[in-house]
Amino acid sequence: MEFASIAEALNARGRTAIRWCTPSLNPALLRVHEPYDSDASISFESFGLPMEPTGLFRLAFEKAAVVFGSEHTLFSVNGTTWSNFVVIKALAKQVPNLRVLASRNVHRSVVGACEDYGVRLMFLPTRMHERFHTFIPNATNEILDGIARTKPQVLLLTTPTYEGLTVNLCEVIDRARKLDPRLVIFVDEAWGAHLHFSPRLPVSAMAAGADICVQSTHKQGGSLQQTGMIHWQGNRINTDLVTDAYRTLGSSSPSYLLLASLEAAGAELAANGSDRLNHMIDLAGQLSDAVASVPGFAIADIHEMTPGVEVDRDTTKVIVDVSGSGLSGYEVARRLELDHSVIVEAYNVSTVLLLVPFGATLADVATTRVSLETIAKERGPRLEHQLDLPGSLPKVLELTDVSRLLPEQLEDVPLLEAVGRICGEHLTPFPPGIPTTIKGEQLTAELVAYYDQLRLIPNVHIAARNPSLESICVVR
Ligand SMILES: Cc1ncc(COP(=O)(O)O)c(C=O)c1O
Repeated sequence: MEFASIAEALNARGRTAIRWCTPSLNPALLRVHEPYDSDASISFESFGLPMEPTGLFRLAFEKAAVVFGSEHTLFSVNGTTWSNFVVIKALAKQVPNLRVLASRNVHRSVVGACEDYGVRLMFLPTRMHERFHTFIPNATNEILDGIARTKPQVLLLTTPTYEGLTVNLCEVIDRARKLDPRLVIFVDEAWGAHLHFSPRLPVSAMAAGADICVQSTHKQGGSLQQTGMIHWQGNRINTDLVTDAYRTLGSSSPSYLLLASLEAAGAELAANGSDRLNHMIDLAGQLSDAVASVPGFAIADIHEMTPGVEVDRDTTKVIVDVSGSGLSGYEVARRLELDHSVIVEAYNVSTVLLLVPFGATLADVATTRVSLETIAKERGPRLEHQLDLPGSLPKVLELTDVSRLLPEQLEDVPLLEAVGRICGEHLTPFPPGIPTTIKGEQLTAELVAYYDQLRLIPNVHIAARNPSLESICVVR
């Protein structure tokens, strides 16, 4: 390992790398000076209490609600992962025997929270783009059919997707409410903290009329890593239960630095968000042109990706199709980071995903183009991974309800012997962190072959009981 500590690595690389990734830190934020000297705790009684909230904290939450167009807002210092636990805990208390219908691209925190709070999680049909290995949004009719068929009390949509594609949220909400006026609409808007601030971006969950949403403000809202917000409105959400879950699950010592950064991100978005996002969207256009000018690299065509589905998209994101280069997205991302200090947001077999952060410049675009040109020229002799990943991930998702399995009902078997078995754990490749297999799904031959190749790629990390995936946990 090149560095002896995390601090050393951040000091050496954090500032100098070109970032097309989170955290999208807004350089104009009101900053805490000398964070190591200025950090504080609830012992500073005159500041108020963050978890109640009172004092400065209550004020900050109220201001954020106005800025983000909600009625109530709470700050998270443990990302959207934690916010999902808070919201699902509150909803599980509000609705006995809660049934949630969700799009399949849920984050693992959703699956974990539903399991912990005894919530029945049901899925809409999986929609994946075959070649790009990415989830794409469900069509409105698919969502409405799912509601009519499963009669959930909560509809949970993960929109935008990781790649920035969104369902037609206004239409979905409007028509879902006609089917069931009591249906709670919960949006995992981890990737959409910035949407509310530019008419050039898809509509935000709150503006579209969702009841509750969670956002990772650190991803695209400008604040420090690990920060997020929960917003809600209207009378379908029990506010006391949300604040109760917030208090019981939250640390009694949340980071004041992170809370300050969240408050500053909201204030900055309110003051200058539209101008900044205009700049970022234009820069994403310039980045797309620069990337597409390099032989072997192309920009993914969204309409080709989502046939028959009306989607909108976040134009601060650029999906690069690398398949013409003869390299996989894994390899392009690795070379960009190790040889050129250019960090991309995510990668898979045929794409790399570039996210334009607040701090990006035209000089970053130029350097990235030169880096890709170098990689394209060097391609031949350095081709390291000949991948033969399947064209699509299986869509067979007949979920067996295994939420109450006891440890003795599970066993570990070698990966290649798991074909046809019911998976007893969640398998989540990073990036992007969305489970490709959820506990209770069947491990098809295609899926096992996929994992068998994926596990050997150096810059892929699989969150699993045995991260090497030599063995896998299945139901006996
Ligand atoms: C859809 C979705 N929800 C939740 C999360 C978790 O967010 P955080 O990293 O802020 O905890 C992620 C993370 O990538 C995500 O993609």
